Amino acid sequence: MADSFSLNDALSGSGNPNSQGWPGPWGNQPAGAGGYPGASYPGAYPGQAPPGAYPGQVPPSTYPGQAPPGTYPGPTAPAYPGPGPYPGQPSGPGTYPPPGQPSAPGAYPGASPFGIPAGPLTVPYDLPLPGGVMPRMLITILGTVKPSANRLALDFKRGNDVAFHFNPRFNEDNRRVIVCNTKLDNTWGKEERQSVFPFEIGKPFKIQVLVESDHFKVAVNDAHLLQYNHRMKNIKEISTLGISGDINLTSASYTMI
Ligand code: GAL
Repeated sequence: MADSFSLNDALSGSGNPNSQGWPGPWGNQPAGAGGYPGASYPGAYPGQAPPGAYPGQVPPSTYPGQAPPGTYPGPTAPAYPGPGPYPGQPSGPGTYPPPGQPSAPGAYPGASPFGIPAGPLTVPYDLPLPGGVMPRMLITILGTVKPSANRLALDFKRGNDVAFHFNPRFNEDNRRVIVCNTKLDNTWGKEERQSVFPFEIGKPFKIQVLVESDHFKVAVNDAHLLQYNHRMKNIKEISTLGISGDINLTSASYTMI
């Protein structure tokens, strides 16, 4: 299930008119150094982005809290408050996504004024995905693993079915493993297991899931981790991302790239 492509390599790929670098080179890159290649984002933690830094920012008065779907025609750059502890986390505006990059509606639950996630979010947390998922959709989850963590999970759900279950386990018979699977009609399918394990007890993480036509692609801390072929074919029917387990959740958002 694992392959050796680095998300970071993709993001820093040259010649791509999409300044996010996606999806261009992802999938054709040599392996990254592993771990935290966020060094390609120099000055990545400048701290709080000032209000007004986001052209087209909807006035704060329209953000009473949960952002309703469809109300963000302009960019809402996901600025993360303070000197972000997230490995490889790009800085505020101008990086990821760049200003002017249309972002998805409903992307910043609990957003305070100026679209800054108010966090932490309550776990388990359901991120609505109105209209389902589709190729070029990028979902980003920021959080911190709790000190005594046993597991965490992402569940891309269609009702009670789970199209894609991504389940890092910190101690399965004294081993760390990531289990991926699909649940249809209350029955789990065949597990796909990955022993590359980028999560660390007590540490912040960034998970990015890029939807492609044949599979989900997962990167953690800017390094590509695995891909998971679509078993549930109609991915437009996936309506929710469930986020659960032993984490503090800072933000969950999505955008099209
Ligand atoms: C089960 C576990 C579920 C899910 C599933 C994946 O053993 O109870 O939560 O992780 O494995 O195959």
